[in-house]
Amino acid sequence: MNAIEISHLRRVFKSYIGVIKRTAREVVAVNDVSFSIEDGELFGLLGPNGAGKTTTVKMLTTLLIPTAGTATIRGFDVVKRAEEVRKRIGFIFGGERGLYWRLSGIDNLRYFASLYGVDPDVSKKRIPFLLELVGLRDRGDEKVGGYSRGMKQRLHVARTLLHDPEVLFLDEPTIGLDPVGAREFRQVILDLQSQKKTILLTTHYMFEADALCDRIAVINHGHIVALDTPGGLKSRAQDLNVVEVETFGLPANTLNNLRALPFVDALSVEEYEQRQMLMIQTSRGAEAVPDVMAALEGLKVGRVIVREPTLEDAYVRLVEDGDKS
Ligand SMILES: Nc1ncnc2c1ncn2[C@@H]1O[C@H](COP(=O)(O)OP(=O)(O)O)[C@@H](O)[C@H]1O
Ligand SMILES: [Mg+2]
Repeated sequence: MNAIEISHLRRVFKSYIGVIKRTAREVVAVNDVSFSIEDGELFGLLGPNGAGKTTTVKMLTTLLIPTAGTATIRGFDVVKRAEEVRKRIGFIFGGERGLYWRLSGIDNLRYFASLYGVDPDVSKKRIPFLLELVGLRDRGDEKVGGYSRGMKQRLHVARTLLHDPEVLFLDEPTIGLDPVGAREFRQVILDLQSQKKTILLTTHYMFEADALCDRIAVINHGHIVALDTPGGLKSRAQDLNVVEVETFGLPANTLNNLRALPFVDALSVEEYEQRQMLMIQTSRGAEAVPDVMAALEGLKVGRVIVREPTLEDAYVRLVEDGDKS
């Protein structure tokens, strides 16, 4: 049995604009999404902001009712058998509150254990085990108010594991963490996987999905645009090369001109303080450089390199294709 089965899931939000003449506007947040996740799999749902990740996770965790389609968790329908589903899942949403800052880490876990009806004999053994698992063994007696963001986020994980759920949903769990905190958190995710948990992780960081996940579904505008292993996604970009150009003050219309060039398959820009790094995906490789330079005529240009594609490039290409359709 698959841990998670999703079939033609859809969610539409209605919002109203205007005061006197109210006009209904529909946002299709999740549009015909289908995939399954195997038992014990660490599965990534990757997509830019607004792609529909949180809405998908909320439907799977029984917090939102789907507009259409179905989903099951370990065979239980998320709408018709919501109680059974809730017993088997744990979830954390990024930037979530819900810990008592004036209590210690241990006391927070004791409190939530009794709230969730965990047998006190069980929680006595389980709380030290969980603190160890999330790397807080020596800090459990300290007040949560003094914890770093990363420590709080790891305590959230311990809290959601109190009832020993089989399936975990982590919605952008490393958002807002500093690099060290994020790295420690990713280690916790890997440790959870070695505990045989099934994990659905959402992220908009390609490298994070690459480093952690067995398979990745890329979502854009509510649609799944690709579903593959990290290696499989990478191989999709293999026919391309990437021309990287460092520019200083890149105007928007130049960017549009570049995008319109026939040999440009996809294009992305990273903004730094005084400069931009332009990344152009093209099957023409180094041969494209003179044409790119011609399009940048009159602009101050720094370093120019031609390199092999990465998983990030495959992602950019998938998400850009989605924008064109
Ligand atoms: N409660 C809501 N009401 C109206 N629109 C919403 C609501 N929640 C999400 N949306 C819209 O649905 C789309 C998907 O949002 P979301 O699932 O939060 O994306 P992600 O988590 O990938 O950033 C966005 O366009 C968002 O604005
Ligand atoms: Mg989200």
